[in-house]
Amino acid sequence: MPVIAEIEDLRRIYERRVPRMFYDYVETGSWSEQTFRENSSDFGRIYFKQRVAIDMTGRSTASRMIGQEVAMPVALAPVGLTGMQDADGEIKAARAAEKFGVPFTLSTMSICSIEDVAAHTEKPFWFQVYTLKDDEFNRNLFARARAANCSAIVITVDLQLLGQRHKDLKNGLSAPPKLTLRTMANLATKVRWGLGMLGTKRRFFGNIVGHARGVTDPSSLAEWTASAFDQSLDWERIREFRRMWDGPLILKGIIEPEDAVKALDVGADAIIVSNHGGRQLDGALTSIRALPRVLDAVGDRIEVHLDSGIRSGQDALKALAMGAKGTYIGRAYIYGLGAMGEAGVTRALEVIHKEMDMTMALCGRTDINDVDRSILHIPRGFSGDWE
Ligand code: GLV
Repeated sequence: MPVIAEIEDLRRIYERRVPRMFYDYVETGSWSEQTFRENSSDFGRIYFKQRVAIDMTGRSTASRMIGQEVAMPVALAPVGLTGMQDADGEIKAARAAEKFGVPFTLSTMSICSIEDVAAHTEKPFWFQVYTLKDDEFNRNLFARARAANCSAIVITVDLQLLGQRHKDLKNGLSAPPKLTLRTMANLATKVRWGLGMLGTKRRFFGNIVGHARGVTDPSSLAEWTASAFDQSLDWERIREFRRMWDGPLILKGIIEPEDAVKALDVGADAIIVSNHGGRQLDGALTSIRALPRVLDAVGDRIEVHLDSGIRSGQDALKALAMGAKGTYIGRAYIYGLGAMGEAGVTRALEVIHKEMDMTMALCGRTDINDVDRSILHIPRGFSGDWE
């Protein structure tokens, strides 16, 4: 068993074990990938204040996200096709999250269905909604999430159309993978992955096939998603979705303060400052730069979370110190899942937790809820003095 000291160790194993097209799906941004890269590198421009000779005993990272207790304010973000990274991947990730005590968010574009994940977990999870033109499908999705006892809905607002990711186009991404000579040659080298897939029936988009009108053949799904997503989604419609769900509602994909104010206005309980991991509008502001501007606009009138670019507990701590009440990891746990299944997701969470806890201590703090900007050196103009 190799020593896993950091998330990068998991990524390296993941890259070897999972078919190229699914690795590429995760390890990509749209177009030039500028925002994808800078989401992470911008964290490196913020420094911690090293403090010494302060009692660091009795530390705690326990906190709350949307009122729910969390072992640390780091949730698992919704990631499409998780069950293609490792057999039954969503169930494994949800189990790892519930044992660790952090929220798991299931994607609409998951392989295991809402019902399936609910049947294989004990605690409520969060459900991410993509809104489609088919309103009956949307309404059913909310009803299914309610029946599965989901404890929050996350509506993604930055993906009415899919940003172009060059690698996915070139790889002919599909679930399950289409068997061309090139993909077969690659799949043949992924023994652990292949055995897992042979042992499961969960190989299609479980929330969609058999639920959305006209989708019986998953091979047509890529085309179907392009035509089925609701490009006309607007704030009025989000307000309608708000009325359909009486539990906590989180809007994911906000970068600009004007949109944060609109989210507040439609009655969302929280927003996620996110550019979809750099997978949508390449050239958008990175999440960590956008965060202070959003916080200036909404203050504490709405809970503000952040995703995109977090690969360590230090990154998450920087976002929390800058005022986010919660953070999310996507790629960081998918690396663990593809590398080592459920144990790999647990390992990713342990790594992030340890980094966060030790860094907090070395900054002279013992309670994650007391961490604020005073532990950071933020370069002047970091959040921009944009025209
Ligand atoms: C879907 O959410 C994606 O980013 O591929």
